[in-house]
Amino acid sequence: MVRSGPADRKILTAAQIEAETAKRNGILGRKAFLFDRVESTNDVALTLAREGQPEGTLVIAETQTAGKGRYDRMWFSPPHQGLWFSLILRPQTQQDKVALVMLLASLAMARAVEKALHLSPSIKWPNDVFLRGRKFCGILAASEFVRNQLAYVVLGVGVNVNQRLDDFPTELGRKVTSLRIETAETVDRAWFLGHVLVVVEELYLDFVRGDVDEALRAWEARCPMIGKNIQIRAGSGIVSGIFESIDHCGRARMRQADGHVLTVSSGEASLSQPRSIG
Ligand code: BTN
Repeated sequence: MVRSGPADRKILTAAQIEAETAKRNGILGRKAFLFDRVESTNDVALTLAREGQPEGTLVIAETQTAGKGRYDRMWFSPPHQGLWFSLILRPQTQQDKVALVMLLASLAMARAVEKALHLSPSIKWPNDVFLRGRKFCGILAASEFVRNQLAYVVLGVGVNVNQRLDDFPTELGRKVTSLRIETAETVDRAWFLGHVLVVVEELYLDFVRGDVDEALRAWEARCPMIGKNIQIRAGSGIVSGIFESIDHCGRARMRQADGHVLTVSSGEASLSQPRSIG
C-alpha cells in the first residue's frame, strides 16, 4: 500500500519524529533537527556531532542548496520532493569498518522500499540503490577520529521520492528515478521515513553486535554485479576482475585472471564491456 499525501506536505515536525522513535524505544531519530533549507544536512550533522549530539540524532531538510554526492558531485535536493537526511552514529569500531556502515545502509534502504512499497531495488557497489536500472537513492558518509578512536560517523542519505520525470535536470536524464515514478503514486514521505529509520536501525544494531554475515549475503543477493566481470575505477587507476563477494569491511573481492583475489575499498564500479573480436 502506498499511503498518499500531498507532495508538498511537510515531513512531520522534529517533535513528531522524536515521539515516533520514543514509541518504539528506538535510537535513530530520538533527537531530530528539521530544517526548511540547509546547504547540506551532512555539514549540519557534522557540526552537531562535533558539539556532542548523541548517537541517533537525525538532521533532515526539506531542501538542500548544496547537497553533496560522492566525488564532490552535487546532489539534486529539490524542496518537498525527497528525503534528504543525515544520522549521527557513534559505533565503537575500527576505521576499516566505516565503509561497511554505508554498505549496510544501502541494504537497509532497499529493504525499506521493499517493505513499504513492494518494489525490489538492486544495489550497485558500494552503496547506490536502483530501481529498473535507475538510481533513486545515494549514501555519503563522513567520519572523524579522535586519538585513533572513531568519534562519530555521519551517514547522509538522499532518496528521490516524489519527483516526476521532468522534475529532474536534463543532465541526469535517464539515469535517475523516484519512488513516485516507480509506483505511479505520491508517496507520503513521513510514512516512508518511519520505515527507513526502523530498517536502518535493525541493520545498524546487527553491525554494532558484529553480526553481519546474513546482511552481507543479502547485500550480495541484491547486487547484479556479483559473479560478473567488473571494473572499479579508483583515483587514476582501474582494476578489473570477477566480483565474487563483499568482505567484513565492505570491500569488493575481485578474482583476477591469474586467480589472485584483490580487495578494493572504494571506487566507481561498472560492468566490464565484452571485448569485440576483429
Ligand atoms: C551519492 O550517491 O553520490 C551520495 C548522495 C548522498 C546525498 C545525501 S542527501 C543528504 C545528505 N546530505 C548531503 O549533502 N548529501 C547526503
